[in-house]
Amino acid sequence: MNDNSVNTARRRFLTGVTAGVGAVGAAGAAVPFVASMSPSERARAAGAPVEVDISRLGPGQILKVEWRGKAVFVVNRTPQMLASLAEVEAKVADPESAESLQPDYARNRERSLRPEVMVVVGVCTHLGCAPLEKFQTGPQSGVEPDWRGGFYCPCHGSKFDLAGRVYKGVPAPTNMEVPPYRFVDENRILIGVHHGAEVA
Ligand code: FES
Repeated sequence: MNDNSVNTARRRFLTGVTAGVGAVGAAGAAVPFVASMSPSERARAAGAPVEVDISRLGPGQILKVEWRGKAVFVVNRTPQMLASLAEVEAKVADPESAESLQPDYARNRERSLRPEVMVVVGVCTHLGCAPLEKFQTGPQSGVEPDWRGGFYCPCHGSKFDLAGRVYKGVPAPTNMEVPPYRFVDENRILIGVHHGAEVA
C-alpha cells in the first residue's frame, strides 16, 4: 500500500482506537486515561466495537485496524479481485465456508455483506501468524505463477484467496475468520456488532 492518504487515515484511526480501548503501550497522553479506568471499564473497552471509516479506502487497497487485540483487514475489492474468487474456486479447500467462522450474513462466495468490501480477522488459522496481503497477480506475486491475489502466511506457507478462503494443501485448516460487523452508513463499518443488531 503506498497511498499516503490511506496511511494517514489508518494512523488516525489507530490512534483513535488506542485511546478508545486504552491499549497497553499507548502514547503517554493516554496513560492517565487508562489508569483512571476501573477493571470493569477496561474489560468493557477491550471488547468494544470499533468503527472504521472506509471513505478513503481506494479500490484495491487494504486498511488494517485493531479489534479485541487482533488485526482486522478491510479491503476495497475491485471487480477483478471479485472475479478472482470464481477463478480459484477449485483451489480452495472450503469454498462454501462450511467449516469456518463467519456470521451467517457472510456465508457467501464473497464472505461479506457488501461484495466489494472484505472484512476478515487478519490472523492465520494455522498457528496465528499475520498473513501478508499479496494483491499482485501472476509470477510477480512471488507466491505462485498463476496467483490470482490473496493472502500469504510466511510462517508455514498457507495461502488464502481474496475472501480469506484457505487453499487446499496448506497447513491452515480453515478459512480466515470473518468478525461480526455492520455498516453504520455508506462509508462507516462497525466491527464487533452484528448486522441487524441494535447498537447498545
Ligand atoms: S501460522 Fe500461518 S501457515 Fe502456520
